[in-house]
Amino acid sequence: MKHFFALPLALLLMAAAPPPQALEQARNASNTLMGDLQKTLKATLSTQGPAAAVKVCHQAAPAIAKAVSAQQHLQVRRVSLKHRSPQGQPDAYEAKLLKQWQQSKIVPEEHAEVVMHQGKKVLRYLKPIRLQAACLQCHGPASQIQPEVKALLRKHYPQDQATGYQEGDLRGAVTVILPLKP
Ligand code: HEC
Repeated sequence: MKHFFALPLALLLMAAAPPPQALEQARNASNTLMGDLQKTLKATLSTQGPAAAVKVCHQAAPAIAKAVSAQQHLQVRRVSLKHRSPQGQPDAYEAKLLKQWQQSKIVPEEHAEVVMHQGKKVLRYLKPIRLQAACLQCHGPASQIQPEVKALLRKHYPQDQATGYQEGDLRGAVTVILPLKP
Protein backbone atom coordinates (compact mmCIF):
# COMPACT_ATOMS: atom_id res chain seq x y z
CA MET A 1 0.00 0.00 0.00
CA LYS A 2 2.91 2.34 0.83
CA HIS A 3 4.34 2.03 -2.70
CA PHE A 4 1.01 2.91 -4.19
CA PHE A 5 1.47 6.47 -2.95
CA ALA A 6 5.25 6.64 -3.01
CA LEU A 7 5.67 6.57 -6.78
CA PRO A 8 3.17 9.28 -7.71
CA LEU A 9 4.52 11.42 -4.87
CA ALA A 10 8.09 11.00 -6.09
CA LEU A 11 7.04 11.90 -9.64
CA LEU A 12 5.17 14.95 -8.38
CA LEU A 13 8.17 16.19 -6.40
CA MET A 14 10.48 15.62 -9.35
CA ALA A 15 8.17 17.63 -11.58
CA ALA A 16 8.09 20.57 -9.16
CA ALA A 17 11.82 20.69 -8.39
CA PRO A 18 13.68 23.07 -10.71
CA PRO A 19 15.99 21.30 -13.20
CA PRO A 20 19.56 22.09 -12.01
CA GLN A 21 20.72 23.35 -15.40
CA ALA A 22 17.78 25.74 -15.74
CA LEU A 23 18.34 26.99 -12.21
CA GLU A 24 22.00 27.68 -13.02
CA GLN A 25 20.94 29.59 -16.12
CA ALA A 26 18.44 31.71 -14.17
CA ARG A 27 21.04 32.49 -11.47
CA ASN A 28 23.52 33.42 -14.15
CA ALA A 29 21.08 35.81 -15.87
CA SER A 30 20.25 37.43 -12.54
CA ASN A 31 23.94 37.86 -11.65
CA THR A 32 24.79 39.23 -15.08
CA LEU A 33 22.00 41.81 -14.95
CA MET A 34 22.89 42.96 -11.42
CA GLY A 35 26.63 42.94 -12.17
CA ASP A 36 26.29 45.00 -15.35
CA LEU A 37 23.94 47.49 -13.68
CA GLN A 38 26.20 47.84 -10.65
CA LYS A 39 29.25 48.47 -12.84
CA THR A 40 27.49 51.17 -14.86
CA LEU A 41 26.01 52.81 -11.77
CA LYS A 42 29.25 52.78 -9.76
CA ALA A 43 31.34 54.16 -12.61
CA THR A 44 28.97 57.08 -13.23
CA LEU A 45 28.38 57.82 -9.54
CA SER A 46 32.07 58.05 -8.74
CA THR A 47 33.07 60.14 -11.76
CA GLN A 48 30.00 62.34 -12.34
CA GLY A 49 27.75 62.15 -9.27
CA PRO A 50 24.14 61.08 -8.69
CA ALA A 51 22.36 63.44 -11.11
CA ALA A 52 24.36 62.13 -14.08
CA ALA A 53 23.84 58.61 -12.76
CA VAL A 54 20.04 59.07 -12.87
CA LYS A 55 20.27 59.91 -16.57
CA VAL A 56 22.56 56.95 -17.25
CA CYS A 57 20.39 54.61 -15.20
CA HIS A 58 17.26 55.83 -17.01
CA GLN A 59 18.73 54.77 -20.35
CA ALA A 60 21.01 51.92 -19.42
CA ALA A 61 18.85 49.92 -16.98
CA PRO A 62 16.10 48.93 -19.44
CA ALA A 63 18.68 48.40 -22.22
CA ILE A 64 20.81 46.07 -20.08
CA ALA A 65 17.76 44.03 -19.01
CA LYS A 66 16.70 43.72 -22.65
CA ALA A 67 20.17 42.70 -23.81
CA VAL A 68 20.64 40.02 -21.12
CA SER A 69 17.13 38.65 -21.82
CA ALA A 70 17.83 38.37 -25.56
CA GLN A 71 21.30 36.84 -25.11
CA GLN A 72 20.11 34.21 -22.67
CA HIS A 73 16.70 33.41 -24.23
CA LEU A 74 14.67 34.29 -21.15
CA GLN A 75 13.06 37.28 -19.47
CA VAL A 76 14.99 39.02 -16.72
CA ARG A 77 14.12 42.33 -15.05
CA ARG A 78 13.89 44.03 -11.66
CA VAL A 79 10.57 44.51 -9.91
CA SER A 80 9.38 46.26 -6.76
CA LEU A 81 6.13 46.80 -4.87
CA LYS A 82 7.16 50.48 -4.84
CA HIS A 83 8.56 50.76 -8.32
CA ARG A 84 10.20 53.74 -9.98
CA SER A 85 10.02 52.65 -13.60
CA PRO A 86 6.60 51.54 -14.92
CA GLN A 87 8.53 48.48 -16.19
CA GLY A 88 9.37 47.62 -12.59
CA GLN A 89 5.78 46.68 -11.77
CA PRO A 90 5.58 43.06 -10.53
CA ASP A 91 3.07 40.60 -11.98
CA ALA A 92 0.66 38.74 -9.65
CA TYR A 93 3.14 35.92 -8.94
CA GLU A 94 5.97 38.33 -8.10
CA ALA A 95 3.77 40.67 -6.06
CA LYS A 96 2.52 37.79 -3.91
CA LEU A 97 6.06 36.68 -3.02
CA LEU A 98 7.30 40.22 -2.37
CA LYS A 99 4.34 40.90 -0.04
CA GLN A 100 4.90 37.61 1.76
CA TRP A 101 8.58 38.41 2.35
CA GLN A 102 7.85 41.94 3.47
CA GLN A 103 5.11 40.97 5.90
CA SER A 104 6.81 37.92 7.41
CA LYS A 105 10.28 39.54 7.36
CA ILE A 106 11.49 36.09 6.29
CA VAL A 107 13.37 36.70 3.07
CA PRO A 108 14.98 33.71 1.35
CA GLU A 109 18.36 33.82 -0.43
CA GLU A 110 16.46 33.03 -3.61
CA HIS A 111 13.19 31.49 -4.80
CA ALA A 112 12.86 28.98 -7.66
CA GLU A 113 9.78 27.10 -8.81
CA VAL A 114 8.52 25.32 -11.92
CA VAL A 115 5.05 26.61 -12.79
CA MET A 116 2.69 27.02 -15.73
CA HIS A 117 2.90 30.56 -17.08
CA GLN A 118 0.69 31.71 -19.96
CA GLY A 119 0.08 28.06 -20.89
CA LYS A 120 3.78 27.11 -20.90
CA LYS A 121 6.03 25.34 -18.43
CA VAL A 122 8.60 27.79 -17.07
CA LEU A 123 11.09 28.18 -14.27
CA ARG A 124 10.33 31.23 -12.17
CA TYR A 125 13.32 32.56 -10.26
CA LEU A 126 13.45 35.51 -7.87
CA LYS A 127 16.44 36.96 -6.07
CA PRO A 128 15.66 39.56 -3.37
CA ILE A 129 17.36 42.99 -3.60
CA ARG A 130 18.23 44.94 -0.46
CA LEU A 131 19.28 48.58 -0.23
CA GLN A 132 22.81 49.62 0.66
CA ALA A 133 23.84 53.04 1.97
CA ALA A 134 24.95 54.24 -1.49
CA CYS A 135 21.47 53.56 -2.91
CA LEU A 136 19.84 56.11 -0.60
CA GLN A 137 20.98 59.13 -2.60
CA CYS A 138 18.31 58.09 -5.11
CA HIS A 139 15.96 55.85 -3.05
CA GLY A 140 16.26 57.24 0.49
CA PRO A 141 14.18 59.76 2.46
CA ALA A 142 13.57 63.10 0.66
CA SER A 143 16.06 64.84 2.96
CA GLN A 144 18.89 62.65 1.64
CA ILE A 145 18.22 63.26 -2.06
CA GLN A 146 19.86 66.25 -3.77
CA PRO A 147 17.42 68.76 -5.34
CA GLU A 148 18.93 68.19 -8.79
CA VAL A 149 18.38 64.43 -8.44
CA LYS A 150 14.80 64.99 -7.24
CA ALA A 151 14.06 67.17 -10.27
CA LEU A 152 15.43 64.55 -12.67
CA LEU A 153 13.48 61.77 -10.98
CA ARG A 154 10.28 63.84 -11.26
CA LYS A 155 10.99 64.49 -14.93
CA HIS A 156 11.74 60.89 -15.94
CA TYR A 157 9.48 59.10 -13.45
CA PRO A 158 6.36 61.15 -12.66
CA GLN A 159 4.86 58.08 -10.94
CA ASP A 160 7.99 57.31 -8.87
CA GLN A 161 7.22 55.39 -5.66
CA ALA A 162 10.81 54.26 -4.95
CA THR A 163 11.93 56.74 -2.28
CA GLY A 164 11.74 56.83 1.53
CA TYR A 165 13.74 53.65 2.03
CA GLN A 166 16.31 52.93 4.75
CA GLU A 167 19.54 50.98 4.42
CA GLY A 168 18.88 47.22 4.61
CA ASP A 169 15.25 47.51 3.45
CA LEU A 170 13.93 45.00 0.95
CA ARG A 171 13.77 46.98 -2.28
CA GLY A 172 12.40 44.31 -4.62
CA ALA A 173 13.77 41.41 -6.61
CA VAL A 174 15.45 40.36 -9.79
CA THR A 175 12.99 38.10 -11.55
CA VAL A 176 13.62 35.53 -14.27
CA ILE A 177 11.13 33.61 -16.40
CA LEU A 178 12.88 30.78 -18.19
CA PRO A 179 10.93 28.64 -20.69
CA LEU A 180 11.36 24.88 -20.13
CA LYS A 181 10.79 21.99 -22.55
CA PRO A 182 7.22 20.75 -22.15
C1 HEC B 1 21.80 57.56 -9.30
C2 HEC B 1 20.54 57.22 -8.72
C3 HEC B 1 20.31 55.78 -8.29
C4 HEC B 1 21.04 55.07 -7.39
C5 HEC B 1 22.29 55.50 -6.63
C6 HEC B 1 20.38 53.78 -7.29
N1 HEC B 1 19.28 53.74 -8.08
FE1 HEC B 1 17.94 52.24 -8.23
N2 HEC B 1 16.97 53.21 -9.71
C7 HEC B 1 17.33 54.45 -10.19
C8 HEC B 1 16.56 54.73 -11.40
C9 HEC B 1 16.66 55.98 -12.24
C10 HEC B 1 15.75 53.60 -11.62
C11 HEC B 1 14.79 53.36 -12.78
C12 HEC B 1 15.53 52.65 -13.90
C13 HEC B 1 14.69 52.38 -15.12
O1 HEC B 1 14.19 53.32 -15.74
O2 HEC B 1 14.56 51.20 -15.47
C14 HEC B 1 16.05 52.67 -10.54
C15 HEC B 1 15.44 51.44 -10.42
C16 HEC B 1 15.75 50.52 -9.46
C17 HEC B 1 15.12 49.21 -9.35
C18 HEC B 1 14.08 48.61 -10.31
C19 HEC B 1 12.67 48.66 -9.80
C20 HEC B 1 12.04 50.02 -9.92
O3 HEC B 1 11.73 50.59 -8.88
O4 HEC B 1 11.85 50.51 -11.06
C21 HEC B 1 15.70 48.60 -8.28
C22 HEC B 1 15.36 47.21 -7.74
C23 HEC B 1 16.70 49.50 -7.76
N3 HEC B 1 16.70 50.66 -8.48
C24 HEC B 1 17.53 49.20 -6.70
C25 HEC B 1 18.66 49.97 -6.35
C26 HEC B 1 19.68 49.53 -5.42
C27 HEC B 1 19.68 48.23 -4.66
C28 HEC B 1 20.61 50.52 -5.40
C29 HEC B 1 21.93 50.53 -4.66
C30 HEC B 1 22.84 49.45 -4.94
C31 HEC B 1 20.16 51.57 -6.29
N4 HEC B 1 18.97 51.19 -6.86
C32 HEC B 1 20.84 52.76 -6.49
C33 HEC B 1 18.24 55.31 -9.65
C34 HEC B 1 19.21 54.94 -8.73
